[in-house]
Amino acid sequence: VSEDELTPMSAAEWDAAYRRGNWVWDEPPPSELAELIQHYQPPPATLLDLGCGVGTTARSLAIRGYSVFGCDQSAIAIAAAREADTVNGRCEFATLDFLTAADQLPDAELVIDRGVLHTRPSRRSQAEFVAVVARICRPGRIWVHIGISASEAEGSSFFVHGPSALTETDFHLLVQDSFTLLESRAIRYGKSPGETDLPARIAVLRRLDSPAQDG
Ligand SMILES: C[S@@+](CC[C@H](N)C(=O)[O-])C[C@H]1O[C@@H](n2cnc3c(N)ncnc32)[C@H](O)[C@@H]1O
Repeated sequence: VSEDELTPMSAAEWDAAYRRGNWVWDEPPPSELAELIQHYQPPPATLLDLGCGVGTTARSLAIRGYSVFGCDQSAIAIAAAREADTVNGRCEFATLDFLTAADQLPDAELVIDRGVLHTRPSRRSQAEFVAVVARICRPGRIWVHIGISASEAEGSSFFVHGPSALTETDFHLLVQDSFTLLESRAIRYGKSPGETDLPARIAVLRRLDSPAQDG
């Protein structure tokens, strides 16, 4: 199959993954996340965590004084997120596919995607994700992204059951119609040797005021 025919994991497949346990991707976020969010949007503010999983990132930000709305298409993940803690109600969790139900999301000052764009297994499905984030973000609003990166030499790569990796050039091409890339730093995605300590980027993007994207 060509890259364009690869379809992202479904809600049922994510449910199955969460049911199996061993959520390798579920680690506390890198310190750069809170650092950058605080710089661009100090608390209190409402943050939107797209594809929040079991809520680890949401909780870490609620503790710093944010209200965080986390959504995930996996009901299993959302049940686990609610059960773990809502930090005195500062985290709200909803089972929801943000691609089809973006109208149900609250207005937020800042949008986070940690490890979600990189679950999209083709340029087309990644462009679809970026278009949704562009619809969710009003002009001037910030999107903070964490995802696996690829060097220009190896090139971008696309997977269904594993993170897709984007070069800086391809990431820029993907977002440039709707966002200004304010910063992009090289980080490691996580800390588990051989599993999540992969080269990644944390990027801060500002929604452009672009009529072409707003229609
Ligand atoms: C690799 S996990 C990352 C979870 C979390 N952000 C973290 O850092 O641990 C990707 C998550 O995105 C969710 N996801 C992917 N596409 C989604 C969609 N269209 N709507 C809602 N959630 C989605 C999956 O269900 C999964 O929980």
